[in-house]
Amino acid sequence: MKILVVGSGGREHAMIWKISQNPQVEKIYCAPGNGGIAGLAECVAIGAMEFERLAAFAKEKEIDLTVIGMDDPLCGGIVDVFEQNGLRVFGPKKDAAILEGSKAFSKHLMKKYGIPTAAYEVFRDPDEALRYLETAKMPIVLKADGLALGKGVLICKTLEEAREGVKTLMLDKQFGSAGEEIVIEEFLTGREVSVLSFVDGKTIRIMTSAQDHKRAKDGDQGLNTGGMGTFSPSPFYTRDIDQFCREHIYQKTVDAMRMEGREFKGIIFFGLMLTEDGPKVLEYNARFGDPETQVVLPRMKNDIVRVFEACVDGTLDQIELEFEDNAAVCVVLASDGYPEHYEKGFPISGLERFEGKKDYFAFHAGTRLAEDGTVLTNGGRVLGITACGADLKEARKKAYEATEWVRFSNQYMRHDIGKAIDEA
Ligand code: AMP
Ligand code: GLY
Repeated sequence: MKILVVGSGGREHAMIWKISQNPQVEKIYCAPGNGGIAGLAECVAIGAMEFERLAAFAKEKEIDLTVIGMDDPLCGGIVDVFEQNGLRVFGPKKDAAILEGSKAFSKHLMKKYGIPTAAYEVFRDPDEALRYLETAKMPIVLKADGLALGKGVLICKTLEEAREGVKTLMLDKQFGSAGEEIVIEEFLTGREVSVLSFVDGKTIRIMTSAQDHKRAKDGDQGLNTGGMGTFSPSPFYTRDIDQFCREHIYQKTVDAMRMEGREFKGIIFFGLMLTEDGPKVLEYNARFGDPETQVVLPRMKNDIVRVFEACVDGTLDQIELEFEDNAAVCVVLASDGYPEHYEKGFPISGLERFEGKKDYFAFHAGTRLAEDGTVLTNGGRVLGITACGADLKEARKKAYEATEWVRFSNQYMRHDIGKAIDEA
């Protein structure tokens, strides 16, 4: 079997590592891939948004299944293009990927179908948004409607900040067309949990929980990033909470999408806030999380290729997901200065120490191979150093130990990934 994965981050490296465990998989391609993925797959220099070129490549190489890792191509309709070409592909079509691609859409959907989420209003006119803010309770949250690399969300403590936020999103258009429409919503407090799931249009199967650390600096300070580290499972995601979400959130979302004529096949990532009034949906993503995938897949017992195929074929009801009774922690090694300005192109040493070590993974994000085979830093988030352990404490200790094995010039990491588990 030949598989093509579209994407280039730590998430895609973890997916490809998992795919490579299937004995029927004889060849994996990744477009465009990175320096670590190159060890498991043949990297192809085609961009994730070059749909026609990717489809032509899949035809030429007789790819049996293409798996889309990233949000941009999904929201842009890559799955539609592949299906029009008669190719098998895992992921939602454009009309379903809107669950992530438009926050206004997802908020309206949740309201219409009674799925718990923060109270909100949607605005296209900046003056109306400003008028609304005059009487709104602070803090308040402003969200650009469209995709903005997780950065289009502004938490505003004061009216002044909120006014400034409307300006940033709608007038200065800092996130381009993503900010033509904005959602203004109630500020929620509680623990955040990421829950990923497989969906075949009708059936949903829930994976184990995880928690991300989005801010750049220790103690949840600094700017929002793509994610600086994760742990799984979340000790705060209890059996009761799981039960509630199964009853009021997960299946309801899948059914709502079907009733809207937007059948969803692929991954639904539920970003939840565990509030005093119960779990509420902060956001949906239509793909695996990064770096959630790096801690969820090493714990998954199932053959992921079979699960992907069941989603494509609509037979997910015949599969039960199973996870190890252990824990995993991922610490992101970033380039100092991320998510703003940082240098890249530095050689990374020590990666060979991960070879043959069962519980340890160095998932590559922003890396590339130099001509001579040296691995160089090539992005803000460079590596996701991941370890499994009997419990979260052990996994965390092992992950931080393993961060010592690798070195590059402007290495930066948070030191408190998974610290919250001490409070559980
Ligand atoms: P989102 O991209 O919608 O997940 O937002 C990014 C981050 O902003 C989330 O992970 C939360 O930390 C925070 N956030 C989003 N919506 C809210 C809200 N209504 N209340 C409090 N924090 C929020
Ligand atoms: N780690 C958050 C995300 O993938 O959106």
